[in-house]
Amino acid sequence: MKLLAINGSPRKNMNTGRLLDHLVKGAASAGAEAELIHLRDLNYKGCISCFHCKDPKGKHYGRCAIRDELTPVLQKAHEADALALGSPFYFSIETSYMRACMERLWFQYYLYSTLKPPLSPRKKATALVYTMNVREADIPAFGKDRVINIAKGVMEHLFAPCEVFLCTDTKQFRDYSRYEVDYFDVPAKLKRHEEVFPVDLERAAELGKRLAG
Ligand SMILES: Cc1cc2nc3c(=O)[nH]c(=O)nc-3n(C[C@H](O)[C@H](O)[C@H](O)COP(=O)(O)O)c2cc1C
Repeated sequence: MKLLAINGSPRKNMNTGRLLDHLVKGAASAGAEAELIHLRDLNYKGCISCFHCKDPKGKHYGRCAIRDELTPVLQKAHEADALALGSPFYFSIETSYMRACMERLWFQYYLYSTLKPPLSPRKKATALVYTMNVREADIPAFGKDRVINIAKGVMEHLFAPCEVFLCTDTKQFRDYSRYEVDYFDVPAKLKRHEEVFPVDLERAAELGKRLAG
């Protein structure tokens, strides 16, 4: 079985990237052929509303027609048995890297039809991995629950089922002393990073194993 993980953080080796790395290693330990792709490395754009993917008579029906560096990623996502999308929250939505990827991944399969199912390959196990500064209890106050539910709803409409993984109250800066950060309780954040983040990494590896299974 093939698992593809896509990192929407511009930082390859911080919170989101490290979680996805553990997820991929967990999946590999369960026998999956697992790959992690960092969107930051790629030159691509979001959906351009060309609607080639919506034309049943055209050669791109159900597949994104744009040809750029996201094209092979969409192909791998199409072929994967399991798919994990990871992103930090940037102003309470996914990063622009991930949004552009989601637009292209999702819209190619989406049908404006109540009669026909979407054009996606069904039965793909999926997960959404979110990292964020805020604590879990503050997610609704910042409207992040709505964003998560929209993404989960689309993933389940297209692929089903979708597990949501949250990593909250993350360590954002390598060195907080360099910046003006009175908004944060820095010692509490660093303590949490030391104590809870390793547990989050283990949870991510377990998620990888579940997806692989
Ligand atoms: C431009 C920008 C916007 C951000 N906006 C939010 C936000 O709205 N809510 C939040 O909880 N964290 C926000 N953060 C913090 C990141 O989501 C958080 O530190 C995340 O874990 C970073 O992931 P990374 O380490 O994988 O890059 C923001 C960070 C940046 C750089």
